[in-house]
Amino acid sequence: MTITTSPAALAGATPAGAVALDRYPPLARPDLTYTHEVAEATAPIYEKLKHIIPAIEWPALAPTIHAINVLKKERNAVILAHNYMTPDIYHGVADIVGDSLQLAIEATRTDADVIVQCGVHFMAETSKILSPDKTVLIPDMKAGCSLAESITGADVRALRERNPGIPIITYVNTSADVKAECDICCTSSNALQVVESFGVDRVFLIPDKYLAANVGNKTDVEVLVWDGACEVHERFTAQELRDYRKIEPNVQIIAHPECPPEVVAEADFAGSTAHMIDWVKTNKPEKVMMITECSMADNVASETPGVDYIRPCNLCPHMKRITLSKILDSLLYMKEEVVVDPVIAEKARVAVQRMIDLKK
Ligand code: 13P
Ligand code: SF4
Repeated sequence: MTITTSPAALAGATPAGAVALDRYPPLARPDLTYTHEVAEATAPIYEKLKHIIPAIEWPALAPTIHAINVLKKERNAVILAHNYMTPDIYHGVADIVGDSLQLAIEATRTDADVIVQCGVHFMAETSKILSPDKTVLIPDMKAGCSLAESITGADVRALRERNPGIPIITYVNTSADVKAECDICCTSSNALQVVESFGVDRVFLIPDKYLAANVGNKTDVEVLVWDGACEVHERFTAQELRDYRKIEPNVQIIAHPECPPEVVAEADFAGSTAHMIDWVKTNKPEKVMMITECSMADNVASETPGVDYIRPCNLCPHMKRITLSKILDSLLYMKEEVVVDPVIAEKARVAVQRMIDLKK
């Protein structure tokens, strides 16, 4: 399928948030019919999705998946998708999937002109901070995060004024404004390493009070908190996990460290989304329960045959704003562009780059 520029089809169509059209002329909407060509081109993708998408639904999804895969080549775009994307995105159109840290690192490595960030806004901002010369698009600008919304740059400045000399580490789930005010960034993959990297007795780890408490439980460093929480992970309870164990005594429970500490204490393992996936692939438990966002188990199930997933989960309404049809529109109309003030981006880049360099 070749998708070509069609000025007639585009008259008056410059959606809000679109990149300047002289740089990237918008393209005509492709024909989304389920043809033989589409069926053949998408057959290997369906193989990975058949455990989760009924065959009867495939003809409705495949043409959009195919069109996105054609268009991303025409735009020289790379699709970076977080592990919480739905399986049609994760297995169907993503070039790179991963946790927040992996996606941040990939943003520094790609040669593509355009990054389409399938995740939430702070992830797209992080990509823009690390790749200021690239065009970074997010399919829905409203894809936010309760953690990122819990704190502002002004809050961090006030915190520093009241606590001079104490390093301030920001979880990656924050705005560029907040990152610009902090000493270093971290993700759930490397939070403990970052906390201990300062070699001091006390640090702030903001804004997730549960991640901070979970890290604090693993180190002698006193980890000071901000009162933020992930609206998805804070809803899990330790009692719920104990009840599941009564019903399924052989189940292995793995949890994300954005869950409250008493939930993490009930789990057999806790780690970032990538570490949770690795844990299942390495340990191949007979039955596993992922205490995190719903799409995780759906995505990893096709890569771990023989593992039975028991699926208590909470949906992230922000992640779920990203859909195939919005990704298609992103590529057609080059929207919505993520822009970060260059002065703020420069300061935020120092915090993010320090974290990446620490990993090396
Ligand atoms: P990680 O993928 O880094 O574990 O983060 C989870 C999360 O909630 C991102 O919003
Ligand atoms: Fe934010 Fe939680 Fe959604 Fe991740 S899962 S984007 S931390 S609200």
